[in-house]
Amino acid sequence: MHTYSVRKVGVVGATGYSGVELVRRLANHPGADLVAAMGSAGSEPRRIPALRQIWDESVVPLDLDRLAALDAVFLAVPDTLAAEVGPALAARGPRVFDLSGAFRLRDKALRNRWYPHSPDPELPVTYGLTERYREELGEARLVACAGCYPTAAILSLQPLVAAGLLEPGIIVDAKSGVSGAGKTPTERTHFSEIHGSMAAYGLFSHRHGAEIEQEVGTDVTFVPHLVPLDRGILETIYARLRPGASAEDVTATLQAAYAGAAFVRLTGADLPEIKHVAHTNFCDIGWRVSPDGRQLVMVACIDNLVKGAAGQAIQNFNVAFGFPEALGLN
Ligand SMILES: NC(=O)c1ccc[n+]([C@@H]2O[C@H](COP(=O)([O-])OP(=O)(O)OC[C@H]3O[C@@H](n4cnc5c(N)ncnc54)[C@H](OP(=O)(O)O)[C@@H]3O)[C@@H](O)[C@H]2O)c1
Repeated sequence: MHTYSVRKVGVVGATGYSGVELVRRLANHPGADLVAAMGSAGSEPRRIPALRQIWDESVVPLDLDRLAALDAVFLAVPDTLAAEVGPALAARGPRVFDLSGAFRLRDKALRNRWYPHSPDPELPVTYGLTERYREELGEARLVACAGCYPTAAILSLQPLVAAGLLEPGIIVDAKSGVSGAGKTPTERTHFSEIHGSMAAYGLFSHRHGAEIEQEVGTDVTFVPHLVPLDRGILETIYARLRPGASAEDVTATLQAAYAGAAFVRLTGADLPEIKHVAHTNFCDIGWRVSPDGRQLVMVACIDNLVKGAAGQAIQNFNVAFGFPEALGLN
């Protein structure tokens, strides 16, 4: 049996949707010793009922000094708090895996617009999408883990845009389950509002649009929708192929980009569904090209709480610390 050099880790936001997923997986991770799970400062110690017999410790109030002594800290908290504590913790020692959007945008003007509480980070930030930034993760101190909607869009589109196969005018039509909005209900996410309904929101005003464009390298029209599911994201992506680009080029480019990828499953003409990826760290990507060879439609699915949040962060942690990429994730 392989033994690993175990790292001391902590989770902040352990009572939230992504935090519970982090604790669930880190509690059984052969390379992680989960020594601290924290919630809001001043909160009472709490148990996580869903994790009985998996992790029976208590979630305790936020204590930055305790976290500073660890090897790695996962931040599953609102971006305003991550903006404050992420760089400060990373400067004190631990490597920080931030699930929030606080430091994902490299462009200062865009960051100021979408994350006005985020300061200019005083240490380098690595964008946390393992499939794209594997080489940088080895040295990374502050990892801005990729957002949920952006993960599916970037994994689908970035190789094709980089290969010059697509015309401008890409559309990402995205649907998310309600856990994407976190555990605190709002009028929009209230059961009686969303059950039996479906709503578009954030048209031309969702922060993930800027993140997708940053990583894909071209403009996209991004339209998110809230659907009556607890978890999962499905994105239908529409793009025109450039003259001279073929369906075979699309297939060959995606296959080359994800040869050996641990968590990207190319399904080709068999279009993926949310149920195929729920509770897993997979991003499934399928696609078809119209009979005239010009219109590409892709369908990508992830679990927003796993490949879109906790699983992605652990995948980044694994690569950052030299563990097998899928350790604790299968
Ligand atoms: N949900 C998703 O699908 C998803 C996907 C990707 C990224 N993210 C990002 O991940 C982060 C967490 O999202 P979530 O949906 O898991 O959130 P959530 O369910 O709303 O949970 C938020 C967590 O943050 C804690 N928290 C709030 N304010 C705090 C404070 N001042 N000090 C310490 N802890 C505090 C809460 O603790 P208490 O219980 O003590 O209040 C709770 O544990 C967010 O930045 C979000 O944008 C979420």
